[in-house]
Amino acid sequence: MKAEDNQETGLKEKTETGKLKLIPIYVMGKRYQVPHALTIMKALEYAGYRFIRGCGCRGGICGACATVYRKPGDYHLYVGLACQTVVEPDMYLTQIPFYPANRAHYDFAQLTVEPEEIFKLYPEVFRCIACNSCTKACPMDIPMMDVISAVKQGAIARAAGLSFSCIQCGLCVSRCMGELPQYHIAQLARRIHGSKLIPRAPHLTAAMTAAKDEKCQKMLGGLMKSDIRQLITSYNSREIEPEMAADDWTPANCDYL
Ligand code: FES
Repeated sequence: MKAEDNQETGLKEKTETGKLKLIPIYVMGKRYQVPHALTIMKALEYAGYRFIRGCGCRGGICGACATVYRKPGDYHLYVGLACQTVVEPDMYLTQIPFYPANRAHYDFAQLTVEPEEIFKLYPEVFRCIACNSCTKACPMDIPMMDVISAVKQGAIARAAGLSFSCIQCGLCVSRCMGELPQYHIAQLARRIHGSKLIPRAPHLTAAMTAAKDEKCQKMLGGLMKSDIRQLITSYNSREIEPEMAADDWTPANCDYL
C-alpha cells in the first residue's frame, strides 16, 4: 500500500489540495512524507505500513507500541508510545513492540508476602546499579529505579504504588545495564500487594457471594444461552447510572443487588 492510496486515515484529498502540511520522517531509515499532526502510529499507517503486531489499544494503555527515535542534531535517544507521540520533522524512528525479558515462573498461591520471595524469583534485582536509565526510558513517567529500590528494601506496597501505571511496554528493560526485567518484577510486587497485602473489600466479598446465588446463576445462565443479537439488544437497553446521580441513586430493577 502506498501513502497516496491510504484509505484509512482519510487524508488523501486534503494533502492533494495542500491543506495539510507534510513533514519528512524516517522509519527504519526510509524517508516518508506524512502529515505533521499525526501520531507516529497514524503516520506509519499513512506511509503504508499495516500493523499486525506492535499495536493494540491505540489509547496508551496496552504498551504494545513502544517506539524509539532520535531528532536531528540531538544525541538523546527518545522513547514514546507510537499511538500517543506526535511526529516531528526529520525524526528517525523504529518500533520495539517486544523486548525479551526473563519472566520467573511461580505458583502464585504458594507465594508469601515476604520480600525474599521476590529476591528468590528475581535475584538479578540486586544487579541494579542505580543508573536511572529505566526511569528515563519510561513513557509513563514511572520512577522505575525507585520501584526497584523499593523492592530491594522489601517495601512491596511502595513498589506496587509507584509502578501502578506500568503498561509493560518493556522500554525500561531495553535500556538496563544490569539486565533486569523491571516490569516483570514490578508486576509481581503489584500482584502480591493486590492479592495478599491489602485488606479484602467487604462489599466485594458480598457481591461475590451474591453472584453465586440461585437467582443470579439463573440470570447468568440465561445470558449464556442468548444469541449475539439478544445480547446486543439487552446491553444497549441496560439502565445506566446518570452522570449527576444522587448519592442514594439505585437502578429501577434491583433484582440482582
Ligand atoms: S497501542 Fe496500546 S499503548 Fe499504544
